[in-house]
Amino acid sequence: MTLKASLIVDKDFVVGEIDERIYGSFVEHLGRAVYNGLYEPGHPSAGEDGLREDVLALVRELRVPIVRYPGGNFVSGYNWEDTVGPRAERKRRLELAWRTIETNEFGLNEFVDWTKKANAEVMMAVNLGTRGIDEARNVVEYSNHPGGTYWSDLRRSHGYERPHRIKTWCLGNEMDGPWQIGHKTAAEYGRLAVESAKAMKWVDSSIELVACGSSTLQMPTFPDWEATVLDHTYEHVEYLSMHQYYGNAEDDTPTFLARSLQMDQFIHTLIAVCDYAKAKQRSKKTMLLSFDEWNVWYHSHAADAARDPWSIAPPQLEDVYTHEDALVVGCMLISLIKRADRVKMACLAQLVNVIAPIMTATGGGAWRQAIFYPFQHASTFGRGRALVPLVRSPKYDTKEITDVPYLEAVAVHDEAAGQVTVFAVNRHLEEALPLEIDLRSFGECRVIEHLVLENENLKAVNTERDPERVKPHAGGDAAVDGAKAAARLAKASWNVIRFSVS
Ligand code: AHR
Repeated sequence: MTLKASLIVDKDFVVGEIDERIYGSFVEHLGRAVYNGLYEPGHPSAGEDGLREDVLALVRELRVPIVRYPGGNFVSGYNWEDTVGPRAERKRRLELAWRTIETNEFGLNEFVDWTKKANAEVMMAVNLGTRGIDEARNVVEYSNHPGGTYWSDLRRSHGYERPHRIKTWCLGNEMDGPWQIGHKTAAEYGRLAVESAKAMKWVDSSIELVACGSSTLQMPTFPDWEATVLDHTYEHVEYLSMHQYYGNAEDDTPTFLARSLQMDQFIHTLIAVCDYAKAKQRSKKTMLLSFDEWNVWYHSHAADAARDPWSIAPPQLEDVYTHEDALVVGCMLISLIKRADRVKMACLAQLVNVIAPIMTATGGGAWRQAIFYPFQHASTFGRGRALVPLVRSPKYDTKEITDVPYLEAVAVHDEAAGQVTVFAVNRHLEEALPLEIDLRSFGECRVIEHLVLENENLKAVNTERDPERVKPHAGGDAAVDGAKAAARLAKASWNVIRFSVS
């Protein structure tokens, strides 16, 4: 078979404006994400506040506009009050989600300080596992009320005169999962979520809320969970959450690379459920999606299962990412961009050390994992309008997933900058894919650069000793001829083709 694919990029075929918050990330009190990740007092790169500047520099490279905190499963046993005020008085707690000891040395205010240095907003989650309405309204008052009340004055007494103005709040985490502390039925959660939402918005009407959707597409309660939760919460929340992780434990790379098709289907179905709820409630509001946990996660499962409980900040979920993982992350990013009309927030889970694009050695260096690059490219160049991807591509079948296009692609038009960027993955493991791009609606086009992430070894990884085994180069061959461009997409590669357009 002669391989050949094509993509039509037309500025009038608009999916929607990309909300930059789809390039968000996530920091949980888990493993070495916070301790020895963000925060390591005494580290050569840390200032007086203990924040690692080498990590911050890499986070800034990712241009992450919003970071979810403090969990994750952790939030369902979280007492935010333990994390504020003088450090010497903070309580140590058994942390039941990940079976560690939480010292609370780093807390809510320290995280807000960190996000300022990282140029990001906070997406804060409240505990609807062991706690509820009272805790939720109090933490909004502590964080956002200017002063003159018990909780807001407590914040001021902690050295934060001005309110944090945290705009985005998650109503718990994965409450559909039996592993969750305080797991609930959809009806139980729906009731608690709506009453918490009302109280939180009575404290601060400017906030936006995210209700918990299903933990994965595979949950037996999906999509009834969403339908029931929306029955209760529709008019009181702005977003419904989605979570999804993929792995390649079976070492079946063609299937692994095709997983993003299931992510497309997940988003598609959830939009249908939201629109059903809208019709049922005769609502004028359109529910938006917050894909606030997504990534590849499987390399660390065995090591984590073998670990003893009750230590402080042990290495947990420390996946070392391969080149093929980076391709899957690239495909997942394309899935998010393709639904920019409804997916308005998303968080790569997570940011540092824990299933993360950035790794650190305690007392040592910080480096970029393979998945760092597609995320950085999308976050940097994927701003503007998402265009409908009119793709023609040869396809393949796996046992589980059929009609998988070798080409996964989407284009983004940044009108202000006069640029179009095509993100493209060639899923073919043996052959390059010639791609023709029809830029018919644009005038003069010029290739700015064609970045390529390719590797002879699908399992190649970056480590502290060898941090650049997987890294992109700018040697792609994209070229323009009139209103058409042509490029050769290397086998198993991630590509970013940037055009200047008139
Ligand atoms: O990101 C790791 C964990 O995955 C989160 O704590 C939880 O929400 C999800 O199951």
